[in-house]
Amino acid sequence: MSKSPRRVGNLPAEVTVFVGRRREVAEAKRLLAASRLVTLTGVGGVGKTRLALRVAGELQRGFPDGAWLVELADLSDPGLLPQTVASAVGARSQSARHMADSLASYLAGKRLLLVLDNCEHLSSACAELVGRLLATAPGLVVLATGRQALRLPEERVLRVPPMSLPEDRVLQPARLLQYEAVNLFAERASAAVSDFHVTPENSAAVARLCRRLDGIPLAIELAAVQLRALSPEQVLERLDDRYRLLRGGSRIAAPRHQTLHALIGWSFGLCTAEERTLWMRVSVFSGGFDLDAAKEVCCVDDELAPDRVAATLRSLVDRSVLIRNGSGDRVRYRLLETIQHYGRNRLRATGVETVFRSRHRDWYQRMAARAEAEWFGPDQVEWSARLRQEHANLRAALDFCLTEPGEARSGLAIAGTLRVYWLSGTGFVSEGRRWLDQFLALDQEPSPERVKGLWCGAWLAALQNDVEAAEPMLAESRALARRFDDDTALAYTTQIAGLVALHRGDLTNAVALIRQALRLHEATGDPVGTAHALIRLATAAVLLGDAHTAVTLCTQSLAMSQVHGERWFRAHTLWVLGIARWEQGGHRRAIALEHKCIRLKSEFDDLLGVCVAIEALAWIAATERAERAATLFGGLSRIWQVTGLSRLSYLDEPHHRYEAMTRHALGDHAYEKAFRRGSELSPDEVIGYALEERAEPGGAADEPAPGGLTRRERQIAELLAEGYSNKKIAATLVISERTAESHVENILKKLGFTSRTQVAAWVTERPSHPA
Ligand SMILES: Nc1ncnc2c1ncn2[C@@H]1O[C@H](COP(=O)(O)OP(=O)(O)OP(=O)(O)O)[C@@H](O)[C@H]1O
Ligand SMILES: [Mg+2]
Repeated sequence: MSKSPRRVGNLPAEVTVFVGRRREVAEAKRLLAASRLVTLTGVGGVGKTRLALRVAGELQRGFPDGAWLVELADLSDPGLLPQTVASAVGARSQSARHMADSLASYLAGKRLLLVLDNCEHLSSACAELVGRLLATAPGLVVLATGRQALRLPEERVLRVPPMSLPEDRVLQPARLLQYEAVNLFAERASAAVSDFHVTPENSAAVARLCRRLDGIPLAIELAAVQLRALSPEQVLERLDDRYRLLRGGSRIAAPRHQTLHALIGWSFGLCTAEERTLWMRVSVFSGGFDLDAAKEVCCVDDELAPDRVAATLRSLVDRSVLIRNGSGDRVRYRLLETIQHYGRNRLRATGVETVFRSRHRDWYQRMAARAEAEWFGPDQVEWSARLRQEHANLRAALDFCLTEPGEARSGLAIAGTLRVYWLSGTGFVSEGRRWLDQFLALDQEPSPERVKGLWCGAWLAALQNDVEAAEPMLAESRALARRFDDDTALAYTTQIAGLVALHRGDLTNAVALIRQALRLHEATGDPVGTAHALIRLATAAVLLGDAHTAVTLCTQSLAMSQVHGERWFRAHTLWVLGIARWEQGGHRRAIALEHKCIRLKSEFDDLLGVCVAIEALAWIAATERAERAATLFGGLSRIWQVTGLSRLSYLDEPHHRYEAMTRHALGDHAYEKAFRRGSELSPDEVIGYALEERAEPGGAADEPAPGGLTRRERQIAELLAEGYSNKKIAATLVISERTAESHVENILKKLGFTSRTQVAAWVTERPSHPA
């Protein structure tokens, strides 16, 4: 970890030039110095978000725990507000406790700036949450934006005015450009047409145009793009026509709302039929989308052919309707809030909104199903990241199923299919449960989807140590699985019943149930279920003091992970294997295994997985390095507290035993001191501290001989253990496939092995050599 001061947070980089607003920036800063809650209000498109980001960027260095943007425009369920804020700021929570509580304790000791963008549609939920967080977190400062204020007593409000405008008299270009609106217009116009300048000839038209646009930045941006085809004069004329049209109507909107509405409507009218169609249809996405998604969701008829989508997206970007982020394969498109709103209304007006929302749902339902099917494989880390990126869309799809009559069954299916996502430690256990609970309540009719929803729900509940909730779900799931002859469901139901027995401390029963589940999973050919069962059986064996059995089971599980090229279960297995090796007297090996587990679990952002490995490191240290053990215990207690996660209850007994041992070795005073030192570290520091311990030199008696491998061979052996094929090894190390092949042969020869799996097992238990 670098010690140099760095910017912490998630503020996006500015992609276009920022213009003016010196007074507003200064005023916002002044208000933020006086109050911990400042809200920027103003009409749509006036520049609230842009200003907030600017101010936050300038103040960022004063907040050691960072400046964090939480975008709320896409969130429709106020119940998910605390979860959304928590995941934006990186506070992960798996606890069943109220999410707002764990967020509050996460923020309690932090000096952090929170930017809540677009609060208007959730203003009472925002007010409640912000009020609560400010009360419990003295170092928290909130900068909110919205069409209106939150109405909290401590709130200071800054109304963001339109950009400054020239009066109605002739001015020289240089003078004119001192006005923000003109400056912005000139900026964006020259981006659209490279030789555009404000000249003595066009300056009067430009000034009038900016006045006509009321100095609203979004309107200015949309109008500037028109200069590709029209002169400023012509743009002005067309606008006048449009306004007359609008005024003729019976709208009772404020004039500035009318301006923007007129502008967006005008931009819409100028689009080609294809562009209009695409604009309306992509408005069903939340939080951005990529080309493939747009093609699949938006192309149903001859109005838009799939091979026209890429070009049409590009032209919408040119028209400032879409914002494009990323590059290459990772390009994503996004609509500004007001523009999305407009598209959505038009789509609704044409009576086909449901068609496209349901196609959107179908696309994400298929994505979730693919993620589930491919989870146990080489693309696992990518899937984990991809689902995370699509979180807002997944929510929108689930939301559609929740609110659209007759769609609850699909919702149940999606929420169940996403179990890999809810569980894989990205911190969404509570959210997964919430969706499942809602759909299970909405669609109570027996169905295969319900069976899966039930066992998934029970699983998530068990992970939260909530066995009371898990048991009735399991009972119903078991009965329905039999009724539908669903062997997969029966296998999981049995396994989760075993997990619940483990939580209850009934190890004998747990082992019997999980063994039974293992047979069922093997019979259905389900590697994920099998891997889970093997790891759980190994865990039970370790808890029963049977290290030998645990090692055998772990070896089986590692071989499966290796064959499939997956890493999440591998990491999980390393944790259990580490404890087993330690029980067999292999301290160094055990520590190396726990370190590997922590590194792998970090790739998935699986904090719970990381924490159980740190717990194991503390046990290992308890006897010989008691001070370190106490510090690790202190560090963990802090992580539990700030993240709202909790230790799996079946680890309580050994935890208390090793904690007592540590205390005894150190004496109360020294124990408390070391514990306190740990509890003052941040979660990242605790992880760093846990990883810092290098295997002690000299104590290599329990290590296998290095086998005389060269550095390159060791490197290749490490990749082999991750399930890489010769081809992938070759690509990773930029060598030919033939060379990779001959390295692998040498490794086998030197180690006296006959299979890659043996090499993998050998590598797994050697200390890693992180780059
Ligand atoms: N000071 C500025 N300099 C440059 N561009 C700006 C400035 N202020 C706003 N813009 C641009 O104008 C557009 C609208 O601004 P922004 O999204 O901040 O408005 P908003 O008030 O947050 O709108 P909404 O109410 O829809 O959320 C954006 O494309 C933004 O980049
Ligand atoms: Mg905004």
